[in-house]
Amino acid sequence: MPVVEIENLTKDFLVGFWRKRPVRALDHLSLQVEQGEIFGFLGPNGAGKSTTLKLLMHLLHPTSGEARILGEPVASVKMRSRIGFLPENPYFYDYLTPEELLTYAGRLLGIRKPGLSAKVRSLLETVGLADARAIQLRKFSKGMVQRIGIAQAIINDPEIVFLDEPMSGLDPLGRMEVRGIIHSLKSRGVTVFFSSHILPDVEALCDRVAILNKGKLLEIGALEEILKVRIEGHELILAGCSEENLKALRQSCKEARPMGDRLHIRISSREQMQSVLRYVIEEKLELISMNPIRPSLEEYFFQELKKQ
Ligand SMILES: Nc1ncnc2c1ncn2[C@@H]1O[C@H](COP(=O)(O)OP(=O)(O)OP(=O)(O)O)[C@@H](O)[C@H]1O
Ligand SMILES: [Mg+2]
Repeated sequence: MPVVEIENLTKDFLVGFWRKRPVRALDHLSLQVEQGEIFGFLGPNGAGKSTTLKLLMHLLHPTSGEARILGEPVASVKMRSRIGFLPENPYFYDYLTPEELLTYAGRLLGIRKPGLSAKVRSLLETVGLADARAIQLRKFSKGMVQRIGIAQAIINDPEIVFLDEPMSGLDPLGRMEVRGIIHSLKSRGVTVFFSSHILPDVEALCDRVAILNKGKLLEIGALEEILKVRIEGHELILAGCSEENLKALRQSCKEARPMGDRLHIRISSREQMQSVLRYVIEEKLELISMNPIRPSLEEYFFQELKKQ
């Protein structure tokens, strides 16, 4: 069941001195996000990711088109209590401590007192801010602000969480922790819709992705599917090869590189694969791994966006 439905969503901003010149930030975007999936929203700077999220959060009005969350129009106040949102550059009143901020956010959302303080404590643990709970936010680093932002986005146990660049400003450890949080949300059945240009995070997390460029949807689907279309061959790693084996394999494959006591082979056709595998079995060589060679998401981005 789709929990986010976007239909022909278009947003023009009026710019220039007289605010008369329209700039199209989002161009007839249509997509659906299914319940329980981790959905990645990808695209370079200015692609329209934040604009889409702001339209979904009803912080902007669309020029045309519409969107629904949990079956309700984005303007629905009732639906709002069932979702969470982390904006792109979260700003919080910075004389508060994380504990105060979360307590305040929890009360606004109608969470009752006895449960609330335990909830705040466990959230601070979850986002790695337990030791900083009594420090004013103005003394926080960017990564710490990002973490408190994630905590406030999930304080109401939302059914869907929208995160605009949740990994931005985080160090590698912080990114790992946020990945962990997103995974645990999914395991609890929460749908996660997040934008990012940190490709490894997207690769590690997402069930499906939408790729956006200049306001237009380029592609949507499982990342595997998007990249599988472009498989360029396979790489085999073998061990236990003698000089003779190496010679024989070099004859049938163009690329056979010894690295330490292992041999890396690139195979580009089905026939080649069959003959090499037959040889490996006959010669009792050890097959360490066999992987498709596909472009990384970075390469894909680079190739596709260059064409635009
Ligand atoms: N308030 C605004 N007024 C005018 N133009 C805007 C406004 N907000 C966004 N835009 C323009 O809309 C386009 C999309 O911007 P948006 O912030 O959605 O991109 P993004 O994909 O989130 O990029 P980033 O990765 O840099 O966050 C850009 O060309 C931007 O300049
Ligand atoms: Mg953005």
